[in-house]
Parts: sequence; C-alpha cells; structure tokens
Amino acid sequence: MEKTEAKREHWSSNLGFILAAAGSAVGLGNIWKFPYITGENGGGAFVLVYLICIAIIGLPVMLCELSLGRHTQRNPVGAFKKITPDSSTLAHLIGALLVLSGIFLLVFQDYGWAVVILLLGFAIFRYSWVVVGAMGVLAGFTILSFYSVVAGWTIGYIWQAFTGQLAFNSVDAAAGHFVQFITTPALAIGCHAVFMLMCMVIVYKGVQSGIERWSKILMPILFLLLLVLIIRGVTLPGAMAGIEFYLSPDFSKINANSILQALGHAFFTLSLGMGAMTTYGSYVDKKQNLFIATLSIAGLDTLIALMAGLAIFPAVFAQGFQPNAGPGLVFQVLPTVFNQIPLGTLWAAIFFVLLLVAALTSGISLLEVVIAYFVDEKGWTRPRATIVFGLVTFLLGCLSAISVTGWEHIEWLHQLILGVFGVSKGSFFDVMDNLSSNWLLPLGGLFIALFVGWIWGPRQAVNEIRQGSANFADVHLFSLLAGLKDDPSHNAPVHVVTLASLWGIFIRFITPVAVLFAFFYTIGWLKL
Ligand code: PFF
Repeated sequence: MEKTEAKREHWSSNLGFILAAAGSAVGLGNIWKFPYITGENGGGAFVLVYLICIAIIGLPVMLCELSLGRHTQRNPVGAFKKITPDSSTLAHLIGALLVLSGIFLLVFQDYGWAVVILLLGFAIFRYSWVVVGAMGVLAGFTILSFYSVVAGWTIGYIWQAFTGQLAFNSVDAAAGHFVQFITTPALAIGCHAVFMLMCMVIVYKGVQSGIERWSKILMPILFLLLLVLIIRGVTLPGAMAGIEFYLSPDFSKINANSILQALGHAFFTLSLGMGAMTTYGSYVDKKQNLFIATLSIAGLDTLIALMAGLAIFPAVFAQGFQPNAGPGLVFQVLPTVFNQIPLGTLWAAIFFVLLLVAALTSGISLLEVVIAYFVDEKGWTRPRATIVFGLVTFLLGCLSAISVTGWEHIEWLHQLILGVFGVSKGSFFDVMDNLSSNWLLPLGGLFIALFVGWIWGPRQAVNEIRQGSANFADVHLFSLLAGLKDDPSHNAPVHVVTLASLWGIFIRFITPVAVLFAFFYTIGWLKL
C-alpha cells in the first residue's frame, strides 16, 4: 500500500484557534508577573512602555511565528528545516561571531561560558537556522519546568482558600505562610506534579479534543472570574487611589531597566521567541486570517493583563497596602487584602482558580511545542511523547520546586554551576527563569525576526499571510484606515504604504535593533 503522510490535525474553527493561542499568551505572566512588575516600576508609566513594546516588537514577531508555522505545517525545528537555505551567509556570520567570542572567553579563562558559546557557534555553522527552532524546543521544556512549580502553588492555595487557611491578619503572617508552603518539598513537588498531570492529560488528547476544547471552556471562565474580581475591587471604599496609581503615568519612574523589563515581558506574555506560536500556527488552515488573529491574540492578552491590574491594585490600595511587594504580591498581599473584606475566602478562592486556569492554558502550549517536535521529527506517537516528556519536565521542575528560596537541597548543583560559570545569581528557580525569560526568548525572537526578514523573506511570508487576509498585503494603509479600501482608485500599486510593507520594515530593522539594544544593555556593553 502506498505510504501517505499522516494528515496534520487542524483547529476546528477560527474561534478555537484564537482562544487556544490567547490561552497560551494569557497566563501567570499576565496575572502574577505583570501586576507585580508594574507595581515595582511605578505603575502607569510602565504600562505605557509595555504597550509600546507589545506594538513594535510583539505584534511583528507574532505574525512572523504564525506565518512560519502555517506555511510549513511543522513544529519549530521542522519549520526552520523546511525553509532554511543550504547555505546562509547571515547564519555563517552569526556562527563566526559566536566562535570568536568563545575563543575570546577561553583566553580569559571563562571556560563554562566559552564552551556554551563555542558549541552554539559550531551548531549554527552545522545546522544553520534550525538551531533557532531547537532553542525554542529547549526553552519550552525549561520554562514549563519552573512555570509548573508556580502553577502548583496556585493549586495549593486554592485548596487552602477553601479550607480557610489563608485568613491572614498581616502581610508578614501571609509571607511566613507562603515561604513555609513553598519550602516544604512534599507540598511543592506534589502540587507541581498535579499541574503537570493536568497539562499532560489535555495535550495527550490532541489539538482539537484536547487543547482547543479546553481552551474554549477555560478562557470564558477566566474572563468571567476576572470581571467579578474587578467589580469587587473597584467598588471598595478607597479604591480610587489604586486606579490612579495604575492609570496615571509618572515618567520619573522609568529608567533603562524598566524598559528592559517591559521588553522581556512582552516576549514572555505573548508566548513569543520559542516557537509556541509557530506550533499553534502549524495547526491553522489557509482560510484563516493571520493578521486579524495576531491582533486578536495580542489584544486579548493585553486586555487581560490590564484587567488583572484593575482587579488587584484598587483592592490593594483600598486596604492600605503597598503595590511593590514583588513576586509575593499575589501570594502574600492579596490573601491578606481579601481577608479584610467580607466573604474574603470566596474572593481568594476565585482569584487562585483564575490564576490556575490562566496557567493551565499556557502550560499546555509549552508542552505542545516539545510534543510536536517529537511527533513530527522523531515519529513518536502523541501519547508516548506526552508521557515521556511530561515526566522529564516534571523531574527537571522538581529541582526548581525545592530551590525557590535557596540551594540547601541541591548544594552539589550550586557548586557545579559556580564552578563552571563562575556566577550563579539567585536560586535554581531564578536561574531557570532568568535563562529562559531574559535570554532564550528575546534571542529566539531576534533570530525569528531576522530569519523571516532576511532569509525566508517578507515576499514569501506575505504570500503566506495573503491567503486568508488580502487586506493585509494589498490595501493602501491609509485607505484602509479611512474606510476607503474598496474604492478602486485607492487599491495599492506596489510602492505605497501597506500593512505588509510596514511589517517588513519592522521585522527587518526596528524589531532586531530594539532587541539588540536591550541585549547590549543587559550584558553591559551599553550604558544609558
Ligand atoms: N505567555 C505565558 C504567560 O504570560 O504566562 C507564558 C508562556 C507560555 C511563555 C508559552 C512562552 C510560551 F511559549
């Protein structure tokens, strides 16, 4: 019998795809991280910087990923494999730069980093752009390992909210409880296991009956719960102070570091830079409008982040607390806030269910990137890939689960990292978070923009996007905005500004330059 390639499963509907992709984007990043980094960076002004990052970096890169995925119908590694040319000068240049930097580090006896950079450089020589896809799969795996730990805490907190264990009278008491909870290995690991299991069960079922089905159920629930919390928060006496903090910008609080955080967060919150959107894009059929999808996903993600701030800050201020508590904001300050208002247990339970729902739709997309790779490239069955890599991710996550506050349980690993790299900032959990959020994702985003902008080429990419959304490529931007797109005299000849040409300029120049700036600043080559 003739062997035919198995038909790729597609989303059953446009709405299903948008909800699944928005589900990936909306997660702990929106409800846990965004409010606390906004709180730490002075409120409104930071929100504005973040919105600018979403517009100039997030939207263009998301469209790159979706078009790459739909065109190739593959996981990130397969996607790059399919369209990477036999020889790419740009890849050779990047490879050479990395090898030179590696040699430079060797000379300075920084052996750990030298080996990593040399390996990366040689890998790029050998496999060219496919390495970017591989970095994505690796990032999916590392992010999920610690993401699942935080998601696990929310499971524990839901249980504790229902059983009345979150009734704190002071933030100090809440903080003590929180540290106690996250440093009890059995609890932390148990909750992390439950979350991983939930992700595995959904991903095991496949694209339509797993990911899409659950996203359609969970996303409306998330929205409703958030609305309930906002209404509760803003109707508390004294809530105005929180709204003011959140919405009135104070630009004196903005510095280079906050811009950098906003940029890194734009990648994280939109699930960009590691092929999650490439993978989800690979399940999209040619009839769907990728441009509208990009706007809808980023729009929903931004809306939910802004709503989360509105659910949290008014309540925090109304009860007289400070918004700059950092990562502990939602696990320490919020339960204390809720405890002071009538029906506190109910609000706390609603909040942590909300957090779990958000984390779950993101967790499944992280796992799906890894599973899609093993299914497409290695020919594994979905159940086998899900079980093996769910377990592997769980095991790696255990290291994060037992080392959120320090290394005491895994001192050997600490010594190893110190010995090889000379530094190790924070705990193992911090190392994983830092490695993926501040390095793998922005680097991945940079390479994806460069690849689509300069190697695959905007022409090919736009041809892909044009299927399902002719407006994107061919209508004069100003005519479109002015509502004149069907007026024949306004249809664009080649050289006018269209959304497509604007996008091409962004991904070729603006996005890469912005990300590079942020990098050079992070590694200290640029001082502002
Ligand atoms: N976007 C998710 C969040 O904001 O929580 C995190 C995430 C999910 C990052 C999926 C990357 C990813 F591929």
